[in-house]
Amino acid sequence: MAEEIFIQSTDKAKQYEELIPQLEALIGDEKNLIANLANTSAALQAVFGFLWVGFYLVEGTELILGPFQGPVACSRIQKGKGVCGHAWLFEQLITVPNVEEFPGHIACSSLSKSEIVIPIIKNNDVVAVLDVDSQQVNHFDEIDEKYLSIICTWLSTYCF
Ligand code: SME
Repeated sequence: MAEEIFIQSTDKAKQYEELIPQLEALIGDEKNLIANLANTSAALQAVFGFLWVGFYLVEGTELILGPFQGPVACSRIQKGKGVCGHAWLFEQLITVPNVEEFPGHIACSSLSKSEIVIPIIKNNDVVAVLDVDSQQVNHFDEIDEKYLSIICTWLSTYCF
């Protein structure tokens, strides 16, 4: 069976609304975490053309690079470091309109201008973060925050 994502709308909120049920269907009964995070990264990249989209997985006191789409990235991030480490430490979504104005931002790609990081929380612990980077300053808004959070909550429930 061909696995494809079809999005008809040009409106961003509607694009997310079309994507989410297709993502749920794509993952279906698959239990393998790497497969599911890989497909989630690929689907988000295919629909929105982000510079970088992927996951860092909590392992001890570090985040370890997981499935992603985009340029090569740093393999490990310490708790509290960079945007990802902050999102983990404070257990909250962080939107960075301009990465040059975020103290301690870790620049994996010089092309990245703005970023959003959402922690994935399972049983009150952060188990991973979703990190999305854009080549445009101020790319991410409340629509991205809302729907990427929905995706992360869904992943927490069904994939972790
Ligand atoms: N910019 C992130 C590091 C990860 S890369 O963007 C893929 C950060 O500051 O945590």
